[in-house]
Amino acid sequence: MGAFNVNKKTVIITGASGGFGSELTKILINEHGCRVIGVGRSREKMEALAGSLGDNSAKFKYFLFDVSERENWRKFAALLDRKGVIPGLLINNAGIMPPFERFEDEDGELAKKVIDTNLMSVIYGCEAMIPLLKRSRRAGIVNISSSSAFSPSVGIAVYSASKAAVRNFSMSLAEELDPDISVTAVCPGFAKTDLFRDNGFTEEDYEFISGLGSDKEEIARAIIKGVSDGKKLIVCGKDSLLMNAMSSVLPVKSNELYSKVLKESTLPMFSNLKK
Ligand SMILES: NC(=O)c1ccc[n+]([C@@H]2O[C@H](COP(=O)([O-])OP(=O)(O)OC[C@H]3O[C@@H](n4cnc5c(N)ncnc54)[C@H](OP(=O)(O)O)[C@@H]3O)[C@@H](O)[C@H]2O)c1
Repeated sequence: MGAFNVNKKTVIITGASGGFGSELTKILINEHGCRVIGVGRSREKMEALAGSLGDNSAKFKYFLFDVSERENWRKFAALLDRKGVIPGLLINNAGIMPPFERFEDEDGELAKKVIDTNLMSVIYGCEAMIPLLKRSRRAGIVNISSSSAFSPSVGIAVYSASKAAVRNFSMSLAEELDPDISVTAVCPGFAKTDLFRDNGFTEEDYEFISGLGSDKEEIARAIIKGVSDGKKLIVCGKDSLLMNAMSSVLPVKSNELYSKVLKESTLPMFSNLKK
């Protein structure tokens, strides 16, 4: 897969309303002359993002729908088709993360929601958008996985399964669609975003995440650089790079070590893992 020019593309970004998605939107519009079609559920957050774009706000449009529903993607694709929109890049970024918890204590309904939002949305999004992306001279798909794809430590069984599946789905699709559509899987490490909003994290937890991880803008820039360089797999954030290196050499031992550290941690975010 050769270099990929993101400049001036029409980009669809799921989860554009927050975190990495908002940062990607701002950089792609303000620095790469892109038009962005954001997808999310919160009108308020989308309006705030549009407002932050100032003179460039006309380059941002948004649609509100739940990406975990296949029918919503079908309707969205039909709408873009009718309007003659030719997307050049699809970034499947929307995702959720439940609190760190042992699988036995978890609710099966929440597990389904995590799989539907993190994995099925990516599959439905690709299914609906590939026919439209193929109309572009050179198109790309970027699917946001996570460092948890290669570090399935204690407390994140379903989340890490969803993210490992996103990574493998992307890497398989990359070989099927090459060279017409470039496909990239991204494995970022921790960054302070709203991903943890329902997890009841304390200031102490956020301090830990900020110290260990990266800034969300830094991650967004690493994604755009990796995609522009034509990478099929992007590992970004210092914690993710370290975990990736360790898991390639010691896949089982490294995971045992992370799990031990989390179980012994005194941080409130890991308090449910003590058993
Ligand atoms: N932050 C991290 O440490 C980290 C690390 C590795 C990977 N990731 C991954 O990076 C991606 C972005 O996460 P983030 O950290 O930027 O989190 P975030 O700030 O919570 O942003 C995620 C966005 O996804 C949207 N979303 C969630 N469920 C949706 C649904 N069913 N339908 C439509 N939109 C939905 C939300 O928009 P609405 O509120 O408008 O619905 C939200 O703005 C996720 O896939 C996450 O798993 C994050």
